[in-house]
Amino acid sequence: MALYSEKVMDHFTNPRNVGKLDDADGIGEVGNARCGDIMKIYIKVNDGIITDVKFNTFGCGSAIASSSMATEMIKGKPISEALTLTNKAVAEALDGLPAHKMHCSVLAEEAIRAAIKDYYDKNGISYDPADFPEPSEHEEH
Ligand code: FES
Repeated sequence: MALYSEKVMDHFTNPRNVGKLDDADGIGEVGNARCGDIMKIYIKVNDGIITDVKFNTFGCGSAIASSSMATEMIKGKPISEALTLTNKAVAEALDGLPAHKMHCSVLAEEAIRAAIKDYYDKNGISYDPADFPEPSEHEEH
């Protein structure tokens, strides 16, 4: 069996939503201290809806595929829905990731959350801190 699903390979070789948004309403940057990979996600928000999203990932193929898939999954969705996106859902949408690559999908979940928190902070919108736990910098797997 191939180590990576066709979907992972597709999103890695042809990632969606790559780049940055100069007029982003929120920016989230997270990293994994262990592998050194970094992910940055930009969101544009209008009326509580994520109208546009872009990412820059300096990282492994699974992290790139996860960012691509995750951005596709939150584009056009309400913030409330994006906040419920888990790394597991991203990995499932990619038809799975090898166990030792699951932490790469965690970056996508954390970067989206960080971008939303940045948006809330910049706009003085109150939120439940429980929705924004500290990113797990030393997540291993
Ligand atoms: Fe670091 Fe994939 S190995 S995010």
